[in-house]
Amino acid sequence: AAAAAVGVQAQDFPSKDKTITIVVPYAAGGPTDRVARDLAEAMRKPLGGVSVVIDNSAGAGSTIGTAKVARAAPDGYTLLLNHVSMATMPTMYRKLAFNVANDFEYLGIINDVPMTLIARPSMAANNYKDLSAWIAQNKGKINLGNAGQGSASHLCGLMYQSALQVDMTPVPYKGTAPAITDLIGGQIDLLCDQTTNTTSQIEGKKVKAYAVTTAKRLTTPALKDLPTLAESGLKDFSVTIWHGLYAPKGTPAPVLKKLNDALKAALKDPDFIKKEEGLGAVVATDARVEPAEHKKFVLSETEKFGAVIKAAGSYAD
Ligand code: MLT
Repeated sequence: AAAAAVGVQAQDFPSKDKTITIVVPYAAGGPTDRVARDLAEAMRKPLGGVSVVIDNSAGAGSTIGTAKVARAAPDGYTLLLNHVSMATMPTMYRKLAFNVANDFEYLGIINDVPMTLIARPSMAANNYKDLSAWIAQNKGKINLGNAGQGSASHLCGLMYQSALQVDMTPVPYKGTAPAITDLIGGQIDLLCDQTTNTTSQIEGKKVKAYAVTTAKRLTTPALKDLPTLAESGLKDFSVTIWHGLYAPKGTPAPVLKKLNDALKAALKDPDFIKKEEGLGAVVATDARVEPAEHKKFVLSETEKFGAVIKAAGSYAD
C-alpha cells in the first residue's frame, strides 16, 4: 500500500495544493540565495504554477542546510540548492551528518559563477599591484571575510592565502550578504565573493574591486577591466563557483524526471539567462544538467578541491 501511495503521489507531482521548498544553506540576500530565487521564479511555470519558496537554513559553512535536506522526506517537495561546498565539505569536515555522494539525488548543474577579489571602500590601493604591496606590508593584520568553513568565499580565500603565502585572519559569516555589509562598513579588509553578489556593489562603488578569479577576464561591463589573478602574478589561479540542485536520496524516479525537466526548461528561460548573465554568471547547458553528469562532476571536483585544500594546509584554518 505504501509503495502504491508513493506511486500515486509521484504521478500527480507536483500537486497544486503543495509547496516546493528550495533550501538555501546560506543567508538571504547572498549569491546562493540570488541564484535560488531567480531559479525558483523560472521553475514555477514548467512545474504547472506550483508555488516554489526559499528556506534559508544558513550556518556552519552550508552543512546545516545541506543536512536538513539529506533527512527530508524524499517526495520532491524539499530540494537543496548548493554550490562548490558540496565538493569541499567532505575534505573540510571530519564529521558530516550526510554523505554527499549517497544521500542525495542529483538534479543538474545550474550555472558557473566567477568570483571577484574586493576590499573595503577605504582601501588606498587603486590596482592589484598596490593591493598586493599593502598585503605584504600588513601581514598578520588582515581580516578576510568568508561564509564559513568550506564556503566558496572560504575556499577562494584559502587558495589566495596559499598562493601569496600570507596568513589572514578569517572572519566567518552565515553568508556573504552579511560579509559584504561588514566590508562596506570597513569592519573587514578583504573578501573573495561571487559576481552575483558583488557586481552591483562594484558598480555602486560601495567596495573596491581588484581582480577576478577566472582563467579569463569577464565581459560584464562593470567587471571587464578587472585583471585575472592569474595575469596578476598568481600563475594558474582559477576558481569558478558552480551551483547545483539536489533532492533527498530515494525520491521516486518520475518525480526526479519532472524536476529535471523543469530545471532544463528554467535554464532555457530568456529572463533567467538575462538575469544570470547580467551578473557575470554562465547558465549550464543540457549536457551538464544531466543527473549522471552532475554527480560525476561533483565527485571529480571533490577530488580536485580535496587536493587543493590539503595543499593549502594551515590556511584551511
Ligand atoms: C559562499 O561564500 O559560499 C557564498 O557566497 C555564500 C552565500 O551565498 O552567501
